[in-house]
Amino acid sequence: MSAPIVQVSDLASHEGETVTVRGWLYNRTDKGKLQFLLVRDGTGIVQCVAFKGDLPEDVFDAARAITQESSLTVTGTVRADKRAPGFPGGYEIGVTDLQIIQKAEEYPIQPKEHGIDFLLDHRHLWVRSSRPWAVMRVRATVIKAIRDWLDDHGYLLVDTPIITPSAGEETTSLFKVDYFGDTAYLAQTGQLYNEANIASFGKVYCFGPTFRAELSKTRRHLTEFWMVEPEMAFFSLEDLMDMEEEFVTAIVKAALERNRPELELLGRDVSRLEVVEPPFPRISYDEALEMLAEIREQTDDPEQKRLLELEWGKDFGSPHETAIASRFEKPVFVYHYPTEAKAFYMQPVDGRPEVCRSVDLLAPEGYGEITGGSERIYDIALLEERVASLGLPREAYEWYLDLRRFGSVPHAGFGLGVERTVAWICGLEHIREAIPYPRTIKRVYP
Ligand code: 4AD
Ligand code: MG
Repeated sequence: MSAPIVQVSDLASHEGETVTVRGWLYNRTDKGKLQFLLVRDGTGIVQCVAFKGDLPEDVFDAARAITQESSLTVTGTVRADKRAPGFPGGYEIGVTDLQIIQKAEEYPIQPKEHGIDFLLDHRHLWVRSSRPWAVMRVRATVIKAIRDWLDDHGYLLVDTPIITPSAGEETTSLFKVDYFGDTAYLAQTGQLYNEANIASFGKVYCFGPTFRAELSKTRRHLTEFWMVEPEMAFFSLEDLMDMEEEFVTAIVKAALERNRPELELLGRDVSRLEVVEPPFPRISYDEALEMLAEIREQTDDPEQKRLLELEWGKDFGSPHETAIASRFEKPVFVYHYPTEAKAFYMQPVDGRPEVCRSVDLLAPEGYGEITGGSERIYDIALLEERVASLGLPREAYEWYLDLRRFGSVPHAGFGLGVERTVAWICGLEHIREAIPYPRTIKRVYP
């Protein structure tokens, strides 16, 4: 009789039973008469012990000859053993039978240090390694938490197009598409369409890949990244911050609840995530500049002093964001940015049009801006003036202007970058590890 096929993640409920696991050989340790096989099946990693004395010769020989990343099925008895390595660990399988499905050629990724470029060139194989595996599981949790929270709080998912006739953000980072002889662009944002959709549904969100031909080669920029964008009718900047802090907290809590073992595997200091609770601190751009001046005063490092310089009117770069965020345990909101530093659609502050009703959320520990949002201009004359003064092609925005002609209301929204959020939660050095197949200026392979 053949043994039932079980998943590694379910082994605890099969203690003492004979089971079959199907998967790939992660690693093998040869101790002569004992072969320790680490087998992964997608749900976890289990140690399988093949003992020469217990096995027919051909089965033991197969166990000894098996190469890293060969596909196999292994049958044996589940035993509890606190010391057994694996994920989650604590159980091992005493091998009684083993079949190799395909014996892998010499595997390029060895259990040793490889350079990041080498690993990225082999991303199609690297996704099998335990760190990327853990990160992608956290990413899936983040995405599910985003959807769950919005679905449960009255936001309707309304998809927005990926091929668009005009820029949604700055015109310098557009990817052109040859659209049957016309020029179209890959979406930088779904926001403009969200603004149409709120007049039908009230509170909406779009969630999909977005594209920026970013010339920035920083550890926070991808050319293809995933963004969720909620947009709400009758929302003020204050409403936006109230909602964002609840939303971001729910995402972090979901990861802590569902992925503690993964975060542990990644070496993440979860105490830094456990403090994330509303309310988040809120400071204005002007206060942030004062804070930067203070930080510059306090440092003796001339390079740091130079990096932290910022003229009023300019948007923050990474060093500024990192310095500001370092003053807080929790993510911090920075609101009322200079109008000239932000997108054309942002509502100016009453009586002070040089700043706008915008807000960015900066993650702690140097992970930078994870959300960007604002109140939107809802007055037709003002919006027409902005489109004209920035030299945007009016025809392409005619439909967007219509939204201010037929029942315009104050409204607001924001975008949260999935990869920046995952990089923060997982504690990753570089955002490219937060997406399965990263696209950067230098990389479209594999
Ligand atoms: O601040 P951004 O550019 O805002 C917008 O696109 C608005 N239309 C959103 C809205 O109000 N509906 O982008 C929003 C977020 C950033 O805070 C960041 O997390 C992420 O998207 N992001 C990037 N992530 C990775 N690589 C890039 N090149 C990114 N650019 C923005
Ligand atoms: Mg931004």
